[in-house]
Formats: sequence, C-alpha cells, structure tokens
Amino acid sequence: MKFFIDTADLEQIKEANDLGILDGVTTNPSLMAKVGIKGHKAVIKHYKTICEIVDGDISAEVVSTDFKGMVEEGKKLAAIHKNIVVKIPMIKDGVKAIKWFTDNGIRTNCTLVFSAGQAILAAKAGAAYVSPFIGRIDDSGWEGIQLISQIAEIYTIQGYDTEILAASIRNSNHIIQCAEAGADVVTSPLEPILGLLKHPLTDIGLAKFLEDAKKFA
Ligand code: E4P
Repeated sequence: MKFFIDTADLEQIKEANDLGILDGVTTNPSLMAKVGIKGHKAVIKHYKTICEIVDGDISAEVVSTDFKGMVEEGKKLAAIHKNIVVKIPMIKDGVKAIKWFTDNGIRTNCTLVFSAGQAILAAKAGAAYVSPFIGRIDDSGWEGIQLISQIAEIYTIQGYDTEILAASIRNSNHIIQCAEAGADVVTSPLEPILGLLKHPLTDIGLAKFLEDAKKFA
C-alpha cells in the first residue's frame, strides 16, 4: 500500500518525506486555504514547491464544476509538473472531464466518492485514482472501511486498473484497516502516520536495552 500525505503544509510534507516512506501528496481547496494560499499564481507556485519536495504523485484539485472549466483548469494544473494528478469531483460533468483527461493522457483522481456506484463510474471513465472518504462516512454513522472492501472486491472482479486511494483518514487505525481492506493507497494527515510508530512496549523495551547497555559500556 502506498502512503500519501493529505496536507498542503510544506513543513509537514517535508517531515513525512524525510521518513523515506512517502509516495505522494493530496491536497484540496480546504487544505490550501488552511495554509493561507490565495490566488491562481500562489496556487501554481505552491504546487511547484510540493513537486520539488516529493518525488511522487501530487493531486491538485480543480474548483470549476462545469466540463469546460474543469478541462481548462485541469490542463493548466497538469502542465505544472509531470507528477501532477488532476483531482476532479464525482459529479456528472466531472465524469465527462475524467474521460476527456483519460483520452488525452492526463491522469486524474476522482474525489468525493461515497458509494460503490460512484467508484464504478470513476473507473469506467478511466480515473487513475478513486478517493473514497472513509472518515466522513464514519462521521455520518456508517462504516467507511466497508466501502473500501466493497470497491476493492468490485475492482478485482471487474479487472479495473483504477487505484483505490483511501481518503479522509482520522486516526492510525484507519490506516491499518485500509491496508486490510485492500486499499492501494492511503492518504493521511501527518499525525496518524506518526501514530503508527507508537507502542508502549517499544518504549519500555528500548529504555531497558539502553539501561542494560550501560552495564557493558
Ligand atoms: C483527500 O483527498 C481528501 O480531500 C481529504 O482526505 C478529505 O479529508 P477530510 O474529510 O478530513 O476533510
């Protein structure tokens, strides 16, 4: 399973990249706004900087909602760097735009996916990635992880190439569950990734080893 970081915060992106296990980055308009990126030029510059830090797929989301607008905006985003993946919302014009990008050799990430039916449409249109939002499903009282299992089963049966990019991660356990459920990629904020490192027995064991090491130092 590939690891992407879900943030536009450059320090956090660098920290995750320095771990040596980072395969890519996802952003969205809310994450860009959170770090104070405003205006077209600043957005383009920020994506360029992210591409310089991480050698992997970088999802850049369009804000247009009509076919023509998404195509124009997506072409500009894709021109920033070869690793840019154009992120398109799961709406009717979005499906048409994904198909257009597929036919024109531009990779897409279909976002805001909350059902297996939406995931089938994204794969049919040729999206490189489909992003089911498991945390938001959990927030609304359903089991987000079940959607990952369902999509994984359907994609295997149907032989779809689209990669399942589990998004909206809230905690470290979500990452483990995504691995079990067959996600190809998980995109997570930094905290749940770092949380995977932690176990009290590791800390206790290390403290004992270091204490005993003093005996023969
Ligand atoms: C990533 O592609 C999504 O935009 C993101 O994971 C959404 O996460 P949230 O539900 O925490 O906003």
